[in-house]
Amino acid sequence: CGIIGYTGWREAYPVILKGLKRLEYRGYDSAGVALQNGNLKVYKKAGKVAELENNVIGKDVHSYIGIGHTRWATHGEPCDRNAHPHLSQSGELAMIHNGIIENYVQLKQELVKKGYTFKSDTDTEVLLNFIEEVKKESGCLLEEAVRIALRRVVGAYCILLIHRDDPETIIAARKGSPLVIGIGKGEHFLASDASPIIEYTKEVVYVNDYEIAIVKPDELVLKNLGNDKQTPFITKLNMELAAIEKGGYEHFMLKEIFEQPNTIYDCLRGRLDANVPNIVMSGIDKYAQQIMNAPRIIIVACGTSWHAGLIAEYIIEETCRIPVEVEYASEFRYRNPVVNKGDVIIAVSQSGETADTLVAIENAKEKGAIILGIVNVVGSSIARVSHAGAYTHAGPEIGVASTKAFTAQLAVLTMVALKIGHAKGSLSIERFQALCKELADIPEKVELVLQQNEAIKALAKKYKDARDFLYLGRGYNFPVALEGALKLKEITYIHAEGYAAAEMKHGPIALVDENLPVVFVATKDAYHEKIVSNMQEIKARKGKIIAIITEGDAVIPTLADDVIAVPAADEIVAPMLSVIPLQLLAYYIGIAKDLDVDKPRNLAKSVTVE
Ligand code: G6P
Repeated sequence: CGIIGYTGWREAYPVILKGLKRLEYRGYDSAGVALQNGNLKVYKKAGKVAELENNVIGKDVHSYIGIGHTRWATHGEPCDRNAHPHLSQSGELAMIHNGIIENYVQLKQELVKKGYTFKSDTDTEVLLNFIEEVKKESGCLLEEAVRIALRRVVGAYCILLIHRDDPETIIAARKGSPLVIGIGKGEHFLASDASPIIEYTKEVVYVNDYEIAIVKPDELVLKNLGNDKQTPFITKLNMELAAIEKGGYEHFMLKEIFEQPNTIYDCLRGRLDANVPNIVMSGIDKYAQQIMNAPRIIIVACGTSWHAGLIAEYIIEETCRIPVEVEYASEFRYRNPVVNKGDVIIAVSQSGETADTLVAIENAKEKGAIILGIVNVVGSSIARVSHAGAYTHAGPEIGVASTKAFTAQLAVLTMVALKIGHAKGSLSIERFQALCKELADIPEKVELVLQQNEAIKALAKKYKDARDFLYLGRGYNFPVALEGALKLKEITYIHAEGYAAAEMKHGPIALVDENLPVVFVATKDAYHEKIVSNMQEIKARKGKIIAIITEGDAVIPTLADDVIAVPAADEIVAPMLSVIPLQLLAYYIGIAKDLDVDKPRNLAKSVTVE
């Protein structure tokens, strides 16, 4: 979910509305605002922010304080009634919430006994009335009631509250869900991330877990749940407004796909010197010795970042000879994994806020592991919990399906592997030199892949009506096949399966007939002859073959129905090239089906709930 708040001298509604549009990529099941002007005014609507905007036209929105929310539904279906903000029973308080209150059933039972009734199915309304009840019982200030109530809460939250009789104060609190406060002159902005804030101010405070913020136009007070005052730590945002706008592209997703030559270059810049050759990564350098000596490395991540982790497993084992495991963060955190002192955990995350990944590393940290974060969003929770790490420097990624963050993650993970392999001596000097050069050449080669744009658009038209897709790859390209299938599912709602090409014989081959397009990620590598055999197996069963190949491959074009060629590259860096046609294929099929590719149904960019 995305949350936003404003208190100051401007009209709050336009600030909130614009902020909601910027935050909409975080969730778009419903949206709402609460404003205060003598009374509380709440407007909310199921659907995207535009629905809310249309609904509010002509209504009274005058106010200098307000909170707004764009929702990704957890408790309760997306409808007007369950949209945020919620009003407390007395109507005195309005609140928005991002997160999940795990013990809400118990709190609700207590409140029902005291005569409370509920208008929505949400855990948020329960927490809000619980705060109201605490305030009523103890007669304390709202900030104090919030503090007392939150001590009873199990779960994750970022909340913003305003009071009917207070035209100035927003009370905010966080645990597990992000909150950043922008400091202006006589005004403050609160949001889930910096994107709605940067056009007003670059000075921000990242609120920590278990902190409460009491925010007025001229004052920001931070307290912990023990009621001790905390000193706000002001940081400067290093982000430009252009980075979060479409810049002439029809969609963020397309813009972000086309940004990849630059984002990969930015990621390598100042770190990789292919001429010496040398790789400098200050965060990783500090822990290089421990990483080299680590008994094993565990990579934890979700979604697309997990796929980057799978590729990194192959690269690190090859170059560093250290055993690597790759885990879904959601599994890792709940089973009882063996984590020993000295193990290295690498968390890979675009947002740096994915709840499962965050908790997974918190748990491992307690067990004495060294935590490295490979994160895109500067200052995010995962970056802050990690001992060290490396930012991917891909810039804000707004399209819900991850593209440029993925290739930047691969660039960083490859640099880490090469650096450690070189330091350890498990990678020969010659190979280190060759791979540094290969990596440095990637941005230019990505540029060449993008020139296939029109050819991929034509492919999309040809295959857009397929009901299912199969994506196959081997070795470094196996996780690329998984990623290609994920992109297609996310953007086009077509069922797609990614599989290891050889494993296909043990099941998915039963799906193959003349209607099934099978995408082979088959660039030239050590497995090439093997994947050509797998292609024969599909062809023998009349499947339609689309192949991503290396330029100059003379064999596959004789087998495949369609081919897209990418420049030759070492197999270790090739995924950064072979994934790009798959991103474009998903994008153009989504467009051909007239779908909202930047905001696919049911998804959210940043999943801050478990
Ligand atoms: C969501 C997004 C995906 C992303 C995943 C992990 O599902 O829609 O694009 O890969 O979360 O997010 P993270 O920010 O941790 O990389």
